Amino acid sequence: MCGIFGCILKNGNAAPIIHSALKKLEYRGYDSVGTATVYKNKLFIKKDKGKIDEVHALHNLDDLPGRIGIGHTRWATHGAPYQVNTHPHTDCKEQIAVVHNGIIENFAELKMELEERGHVFRSKTDTEVIAHLIEEKLTGGLTLAEAAREALRQVVGSYAIAVVSVTEPDKIVCARKESPLVVGVAENALYFASDIPAFLPLTNRSVVIQDEEIIILNDGEYEIRKIPDWELVKREPEVIDWTSEMAEKQGYPHFMLKEIHEQPSCLRSTLRLQDQFLELMTTFIDRAGEVFLVACGTSHNACIAASYMFSKLALSATHPVIASEFVEQHGKSVNIDSTLLAVSQSGETADTLAALECARQRAATVLGLTNVVGSTLTRVARVYVCQQSGPEIGVAATKTFTSQLSVLSQLALRLAKRRGKISHVEIEDLEEKLKQMPDIIERIIQTKEEKLRQIAKKYKDKRCFFFLGRGISYAVALEGRLKLMEIAYVPAIAYPAGESKHGPISLIEPGFPVIFICPKDDTHKTVIGNIMEMKARGASIIALVEEGDEEIKSLADDYIEIATGLPEVLSPIPFVVPLQLFAYYMAVERKCDPDMPRNLAKSVTVK
Ligand code: AGP
Repeated sequence: MCGIFGCILKNGNAAPIIHSALKKLEYRGYDSVGTATVYKNKLFIKKDKGKIDEVHALHNLDDLPGRIGIGHTRWATHGAPYQVNTHPHTDCKEQIAVVHNGIIENFAELKMELEERGHVFRSKTDTEVIAHLIEEKLTGGLTLAEAAREALRQVVGSYAIAVVSVTEPDKIVCARKESPLVVGVAENALYFASDIPAFLPLTNRSVVIQDEEIIILNDGEYEIRKIPDWELVKREPEVIDWTSEMAEKQGYPHFMLKEIHEQPSCLRSTLRLQDQFLELMTTFIDRAGEVFLVACGTSHNACIAASYMFSKLALSATHPVIASEFVEQHGKSVNIDSTLLAVSQSGETADTLAALECARQRAATVLGLTNVVGSTLTRVARVYVCQQSGPEIGVAATKTFTSQLSVLSQLALRLAKRRGKISHVEIEDLEEKLKQMPDIIERIIQTKEEKLRQIAKKYKDKRCFFFLGRGISYAVALEGRLKLMEIAYVPAIAYPAGESKHGPISLIEPGFPVIFICPKDDTHKTVIGNIMEMKARGASIIALVEEGDEEIKSLADDYIEIATGLPEVLSPIPFVVPLQLFAYYMAVERKCDPDMPRNLAKSVTVK
């Protein structure tokens, strides 16, 4: 997730406006920043890696001539955050500048074809291919808008782009597909941005651009056309009645709720990971004598789910280990035949990095799954995959957890395929179901959020909760417990549902809330028995069930129905979403700040 912004002013300099607008988009990405302006038929570009303030201090981003310009603040996905990979990107002749938010899945083949036709690339990014494609179309006599359209018709993936060119110095051409793009309309200026906060201080009149639409910004007017058939679209600006602070959260009261709602689009991004890195990771896992999945907190819960995925799909035993325990538990035994997959959203968690260092010193292979390109984990891992969830501002991990599960399930599936442990029919079914996950989660959020808010209201004064699940749902129970504890400060216990009779059931008294995660998998029958034993002692049963599960619904005091027909190994992805919403609304009911819970930091860089 990156932030793009640009403007055409009637008069005055565009650069300072772009600089302050990018600051408002910094939550969308902040590992590098750049601006390009057009003045007297020339391009002027300043860009570098680093946070906006750092780059501004070095280069003075306000000091660029011209009343037209585009800017970009980056969250790296393809190409580490180096100056050369910073947007804007240009064509061979440096007459065209492009900024882009999204993922171009077919950039490798487009780049190869362009290089074969003599184009010279400067960066490792997917974005740069757009600049060279437009360059080719322009030399073919098309207008800038037509050239952009033709270029985008060759692109597979998601994009929100803006293009300027010295060949048409009074225009900005923008287009979008799946990545957000809005236009701000003011008396003496036109703006475009990834998000409304960027121009809200300048105008509250906004035009939302729809998928596969191109918009041509000219002096004081804009023209919208459909990319497929070039049909003209008439769309008037709407008035936005948000405050700036609300706009940064896109109208949500907290970043955590915004990020819960972002999960469908994040999961779509994790379905666009670069094949070669997933294949390389799979190879290292396949060849390992033993595989450790090392992480902390929510990432550890993802690793527990992953261990079930690897076991059930690839018949491969993996060992999820809490990072702070790794050195004590395995520091002496880990060796050259060991592979360590470190999972860390931030890529900076000290406990996880310490475990990696210990393994590296004993010649083990270290791999990484992270959300932050350029983080320490990406530098120490032999191979890493970036999950492409975009910045997660809320301290509680939500969208990054489901993205981690998606990536880990893809790795387990690849390993199963490679080892021939799974039939083609099963592979196709799982791949299809993984593609359906974004829509399944979208439906859960749309149809169950209000009911979860009511359930939180009902149980807000309870002083302790159990979260119980069997099999892979044990990982979901752990994550639901962690969310409730960390943002609503409610003590909670999570354990495999079969364990109750070995001790914890002694805590049960009438009205004690027990949350059961009950997908219709192999554990379904035994979970019913576990529910009965709790019910018999007066517990209040809150059950997450698949649609139509009348048997468990009849036993529960409250229930939430999730889509049915889910593959067992993918069930944690949708089943965790109601628990995220439950924890969020419990925090709100208990007057806690879900975004900044007490005593916690987003990235724990101390051991
Ligand atoms: C999860 O909600 C917490 N924020 C915390 O447990 C977090 O998952 C843990 O600190 C690990 O962080 P990482 O994924 O960045 O390594």
